[in-house]
Amino acid sequence: MKSDAPSYETQELREFAEVLRGRRTIELFLQTPVPRELLKEAVEAATWAPNHHVTEPWHFYLLGDTAIERCLDLCEDIVSTKKGAKAGNFKRRNWSEKPGWLVVTCKRSADLLLQTEDYAACCAAIQNLMLYLWKAGVGCKWTTGDITRDSRLDDIVGFDGDDVFVAGLLWYGYPKLTPSQNRKNLAEALTELP
Ligand SMILES: Cc1cc2nc3c(=O)[nH]c(=O)nc-3n(C[C@H](O)[C@H](O)[C@H](O)COP(=O)(O)O)c2cc1C
Repeated sequence: MKSDAPSYETQELREFAEVLRGRRTIELFLQTPVPRELLKEAVEAATWAPNHHVTEPWHFYLLGDTAIERCLDLCEDIVSTKKGAKAGNFKRRNWSEKPGWLVVTCKRSADLLLQTEDYAACCAAIQNLMLYLWKAGVGCKWTTGDITRDSRLDDIVGFDGDDVFVAGLLWYGYPKLTPSQNRKNLAEALTELP
């Protein structure tokens, strides 16, 4: 019997899946600048993420040189306090190699369900953003390290920590090295019920 469903076995779909599978967390970046317009397009695309009640709980902050320098100071201070000056300086040098910095905040809510859903929406938005950039040849690293919970970051970035929290700090740039990754087989992730 002839099916009316359109074929899903298209080249575009295979290419789309390749973007989803191929995106990797990037540690090492080239210093080639990423066009600001591309970043803006990626943020706009990110805001099309699903979000329950369409709360649009996210905000995106593109950091410039001054803000990045202040983040490096903060990073060095956090790590030095925890692990000593040598470790702090090492981390600062490592982080100063990250060419682009972007902070994504999520609106706070006293309602636990709303808070969970809003955070989920922000994560979906971040994934949208990373996939858009990946398709354009730009990689990211999403971090939720100590700096994202340090209240001194609020002042650097310019948000009120009583109203929002950081869902992610993203470093972006053209990859110097793309690592490989594995995932479990589909059978381990999927259960099909009759
Ligand atoms: C919410 C979230 C927080 C993350 N935080 C960190 C982090 O603090 N440090 C880090 O090295 N990677 C972090 N990652 C990246 C993961 O380590 C990475 O996605 C994982 O190793 C799988 O690699 P892939 O992204 O290349 O598939 C985070 C990812 C997510 C989704």
